[in-house]
Amino acid sequence: MNNAPKEVVAVIDFGAQYAQLIARRIREEHIYCEIFPADADFAEIEARKPSAYVLTGGPRSVLEPGAPHVHPKILESGKPILGICYGMQELAYACGGDVIPGSIREYGRAELTVDAAQSLLFLDVPSQFFVWMSHGDTVSELPKGFIKLAHTQTCALAAFGNPESKRFGVQFHPEVRHTENGRLILRNFLRKIAGLHQQWEMSSFVDQSVEEIRRQIGTSKAICALSGGVDSAVAATLVSRAIGNRLTCIFVDHGLLRQGEAEQVVAAFRDVLHLNLIAVDARARFLERLAGVEDPEEKRVRIGREFISIFEEQAAQIPGVEFLVQGTLYPDVIESKTPLSKEGAKIKTHHNVGGLPEVMALQLVEPLRLLFKDEVRRLGTELGLPPHIVERQPFPGPGLAVRILGAVNEERLQILRRADAIVREEIERQSEERPWQYFAVLTPVRSVGVMGDFRTYGNLVAIRAVASDDGMTADWSRLSHDVLQRISTRLVNEIPEINRVVYDVTSKPPATIEWE
Ligand code: XMP
Repeated sequence: MNNAPKEVVAVIDFGAQYAQLIARRIREEHIYCEIFPADADFAEIEARKPSAYVLTGGPRSVLEPGAPHVHPKILESGKPILGICYGMQELAYACGGDVIPGSIREYGRAELTVDAAQSLLFLDVPSQFFVWMSHGDTVSELPKGFIKLAHTQTCALAAFGNPESKRFGVQFHPEVRHTENGRLILRNFLRKIAGLHQQWEMSSFVDQSVEEIRRQIGTSKAICALSGGVDSAVAATLVSRAIGNRLTCIFVDHGLLRQGEAEQVVAAFRDVLHLNLIAVDARARFLERLAGVEDPEEKRVRIGREFISIFEEQAAQIPGVEFLVQGTLYPDVIESKTPLSKEGAKIKTHHNVGGLPEVMALQLVEPLRLLFKDEVRRLGTELGLPPHIVERQPFPGPGLAVRILGAVNEERLQILRRADAIVREEIERQSEERPWQYFAVLTPVRSVGVMGDFRTYGNLVAIRAVASDDGMTADWSRLSHDVLQRISTRLVNEIPEINRVVYDVTSKPPATIEWE
């Protein structure tokens, strides 16, 4: 990949919970960075020509046999280094200092006192402030040439540095919000110590990516599956900037989208952005495949398979296609690269276009593979995508099929579409902060009610609204009683099949965000 800027910070990941957060913070400073696992090939890191290194925290002890260590070539490179937590201990260890198992483990808030106010790392930072700690071991002896910069009550060496070699370490976590002045400390390292001066902006990313995509695809053709989601939309728009009509976007309307969504996708991409778009009306085929299927996994698998075969059929009609565009994001790339992350148990089969490249022998074009979600949204805006696409909330590939518990049919889809539209409308009407994701779920449960003077025996609908950063964990949103009341009244009044509404108050874990 050549579409990254000249100044690159390499974040060396020792298995930290916070590696991605560190990367985000660096990028928030408009400095480009990439994460590498601690055991990455040095040649791979060097190829990116890093201007500085950040060594992350990690769950191990540097004293343990088999613990990950910093590659000696990183030290030999003479580039500025900031070690964070384990990274600081590792830096001490590698530079000839000493690390001991801490007698007191320190977790959470601690008051930090700066001992060397003149140090560039603490420039414009108060002499005492609260930081976030999470460690067992501590640095007990400074390596040669290093000076002590800060301490806490239980940690004598909470920050150190060697201004000459531009190597610094902090025992606390500057990347987490609970650390006061954390951003300033990181900025001081990047700008004042490492002397990075580039401002990494989305507009330069666009130009570099377009060039890179042109180089990769050459005179050949590419296809892209548009789902209406922000990732595929941005990836397709970027690629079409590069190769114009040699990109064909295929939008498979599986009939499991929300109200008005299929029309919106076609309008936005064909009529506004003028992408070369084939819209396939496959609603009947999907309904047929789903008829009578109640098991959530079976639904997901059938939808995934049907999607692939429709996509293949369409692609076969376009001669000379060699590339498949995918909206893979940086977190997915790192997840598959980090050896310290363990394979998780399978909870759900995620239906994306994952199976396609192998099936179709296509080469992948992944222009977003170095970006985080919020950066993709910014890029979308930069590329002129409409707000309803750029700000679209996450939506599962199998769509409403995993929000209808039990068998899916057109009648139930229509009920859910109407219910979902009401939930969205009422939540979006409120002025408070919007939840990360919010929708309705149609259950097969029926209950007795009374409307007017009549008995009803209708469907139970659940409202789900969650706060989350990445969908990996989530908490149920504290929607106001007023909003809940308006949703409930409208659902029952406007949709005759619904006569009872409940609010889902389970977090993830133990529940998942979607009900299936
Ligand atoms: P769960 O239900 O696993 O969902 O807590 C986490 C996030 O992922 C979305 N989701 C999917 N996204 N394909 C996708 O692209 C899928 O098959 C899929 N299933 C769930 C879900 O909406 C939530 O944001």
